[in-house]
Formats: sequence, structure tokens, C-alpha cells
Amino acid sequence: MPNLLITGGAGFIGANFVHHWAKANPADTLIVLDALTYAGNPANLDGLEGVELVHGDIRDTDLATNLLRDRQIDRIVHFAAESHVDRSIAGPDAFVDTNVIGTHSLLKAARKVWLDEGSGRAHRFHHISTDEVYGTLSLTDPAFTEDTPYAPNSPYSASKAGSDHLVRAYHHTYGLDTVTTNCSNNYGPYQFPEKLIPLFIINALHGRPLPIYGDGMQIRDWLYVEDHCTGIALALTKGRAGVTYNIGGGAELPNLTVIETLCAAIDKAFAADETLAARFPDAPAAKGQPTATLKTHVTDRPGHDRRYAIDETKARTELGYQAAHGFEARFAETLHWYLNNESWWRAVLSGEYRDWIAKQYG
Ligand code: NAD
Ligand code: DAU
Repeated sequence: MPNLLITGGAGFIGANFVHHWAKANPADTLIVLDALTYAGNPANLDGLEGVELVHGDIRDTDLATNLLRDRQIDRIVHFAAESHVDRSIAGPDAFVDTNVIGTHSLLKAARKVWLDEGSGRAHRFHHISTDEVYGTLSLTDPAFTEDTPYAPNSPYSASKAGSDHLVRAYHHTYGLDTVTTNCSNNYGPYQFPEKLIPLFIINALHGRPLPIYGDGMQIRDWLYVEDHCTGIALALTKGRAGVTYNIGGGAELPNLTVIETLCAAIDKAFAADETLAARFPDAPAAKGQPTATLKTHVTDRPGHDRRYAIDETKARTELGYQAAHGFEARFAETLHWYLNNESWWRAVLSGEYRDWIAKQYG
């Protein structure tokens, strides 16, 4: 019965992981450490019993040290990060602060409690990272393996690369038991509506333009968040210490294909359910027009990576990982989650849950 500290567990992937782990391991103690930035939402943990949310910053080394020591934590699953590339271009400082300094703060706490004080218990620091650290691929390049040299192109990916290197160094130098997973683009429930899929769903429901950066032919390897959680659980429990594993979704698609799938799925949903037209009267689909009429090409993202692709041979052969879900079916489920959870995204967009945080934490 391990005790887990899940940093960033009120964010998109972290919250999905908390739900996933709690369901599979109901006897485990789960503590979420989250600063509740714009991307962290306590409502993402609704319905979970016995999960404790600690409102705090991973840069607070004393807080992390005390939690590890007092709560006898033996596993850290580290999701907390600034995660949006466009925000990193507009303001890189927060990315260095949280992703580099914050990760180092947690590593220092783990080293102190697990190694220097010697709890005597088995421990593991699982660092969640991204395929963006490997840079960009041409159409003919082979997919990223764990041996692909790092070549991060955005302040976000550079800060994640920095954190990956620190995790590696704490294993190599101090013998901390670490594992790192580098995954591709996730989608699914609870994703903050700044990322492509939830942003475009919500824009389409309001009849707002769908801003396609450049020619829209950038390729991403789409990973359903539940598959990612399965991969994380496998690496956490079966991965070798000091090793990194790539986790992909096996769905390499150009953005335009994703956007066309999204538009067609929204048209189909409105055709099948006439209440949607009443709920979202500004959607083209409510007026019998194709959602695709909202597609608008805009100026490209600076330094925009052209293609990411994951070679997951190592995770498959060593851990038994395989993405179980195809893109179209899981995308349709994701769309229905957003349609069925309008109050969630309205609250997120209006900042309504911030009142709750203020009341709860002062
Ligand atoms: P997210 O932005 O949805 O959530 C981040 C969470 O971290 C939020 O709950 C936020 O409040 C918390 N946080 C931020 N700064 C903090 C701090 N200083 N102290 C404590 N908590 C803090 O992110 P996500 O999309 O769920 O990504 C989770 C992790 O997975 C990140 O490390 C990200 O780099 C990585 N990743 C994400 C994707 C993706 O497609 N979303 C893909 C690859 C890797
Ligand atoms: O590859 C993993 C990474 O995936 C993670 O490490 C990041 O945390 C996560 O944000 C994601 O990064 P991307 O930049 O690939 O995701 P985003 O959803 O921002 O964009 C996906 C693609 O869609 C990308 O090519 C940019 C494009 N795009 C995005 C937005 C928000 C648009 O064309 N228009 C948009 O408005």
C-alpha cells in the first residue's frame, strides 16, 4: 500500500491519473500537491474519496520535504508544470521557475528524505515529460526514440528538457530511484480549453473562428489520456530505475485532419440531438451550416515544430504498454464529455472555481 504524492494532480493529466490510480488501487493513500494555477481545478478531483488536496507550490522545498517525511510518501508522480507552448512564448519566466526550479526543489526534498535521512523504504520519483524535448521531425525522419538527441525549440520544451536532465543527474549522481516518461499530445476529459481540441470544441459551440496556425499541416501523435495513464502506471511500477520511456498514441495526424474530424463530429452530434441547437444557438451546426465554415488560417506560432512522432518500442517490449484506443472513437467520447460537462468548462473559463479556492484557502 504505497503512499503517493501526485504533483499537479488538479490539472488535466494529473487529475485523470488520480482517478485512474484510485480506481485500480483503492487502498493507497493519494496526496495531491497543486498550486492551483489557472490550469489547476479542484473540481477535477470531484467524486474521489480519500484523496487529499494540498494547496502548495512545488518550489516550496520545506513543504515538499515535510510532506514526504510526515506522510511517509514513497512515490512521487510529478506532473506539475507550466504546460502551454503559446504561453511560454509570451512569457517564458514562469516556465523556468516552475518546470526547472520547481522540479529541482522536489528532487532536493526527495534526496533529503529518501537518501540522506534514509527512510529505509523503497522509493521512486516518476517525472512526466514530453516528446517536445526531442525537437521537430521532417516527414521522412524516423519517430523519436529514447536515444534521439535533445533539441528543444520553445521555452516550454527547453524548460522541460532542463527538468529531464536534472532528474537524470539526481539518479546518476545521488542514486535517486527515478523514471521519466516522455509522451505525445494528450486529449480527453478535463483538458483546459487553451489546447487545440478543447479550444476548438468550445469555439465551434459558440460560432467563433477556429484559428489554424499556418497551413495546419503540423503533425502530432495523439494520445488518449486514459492510455497515457496506463503507460504511467506501468512505468511507475515496472520501469527500470534511471530509465526513460516514450509513450505515444499511435495516431500521427496533421492538425487539419484533427480539425476536420472535430467539425464532422460536431455536425453529427447536432444532427442526432436537437437539444444541442437550443443550448448552443450560435453554433453553425444549430443553423444547419457545417462547423467547418469556422476554419480560419492565422499567423503561424513562432518556431512552430512541424512534426512529432513517438517510437514506443521500448515501452511496449519492456513494460507491455500499448495504446488501446483509436483516435476517432476516443475523440467522439471526448466531444461528448465536453457536451455533457458544460458547467465544468463554463466555470473554468469564467474563473468561477477561484471563489471556491479563495474561500477554502484564504
Ligand atoms: P496542466 O497545465 O493541465 O496542469 C498543470 C498542473 O500543475 C495544474 O494543476 C497546475 O495548477 C499545477 N502547477 C503549475 N505550477 C505549479 C507549481 N509551481 N506548484 C504546484 N503545482 C503547479 O498540464 P497537463 O497538460 O496536465 O500536463 C501535465 C504534465 O504532463 C506536465 O508536466 C506537461 O509538461 C506534461 N505533458 C503534457 C502533455 C499534454 O498533451 N498535455 C503532453 C506531454 C507532456
Ligand atoms: O507533444 C506534447 C505537447 O503537446 C505537450 O508537452 C504540451 O504540454 C501540450 O500543450 C502539447 O503541445 P502542442 O503545442 O503540440 O499542443 P497545442 O494543443 O497547443 O497545439 C496542437 C497543435 O495545434 C500545434 O501544432 C499548434 C496547433 N494549434 C494550437 C492552437 C491552440 C493551432 O493551430 N491553433 C490553436 O489555436
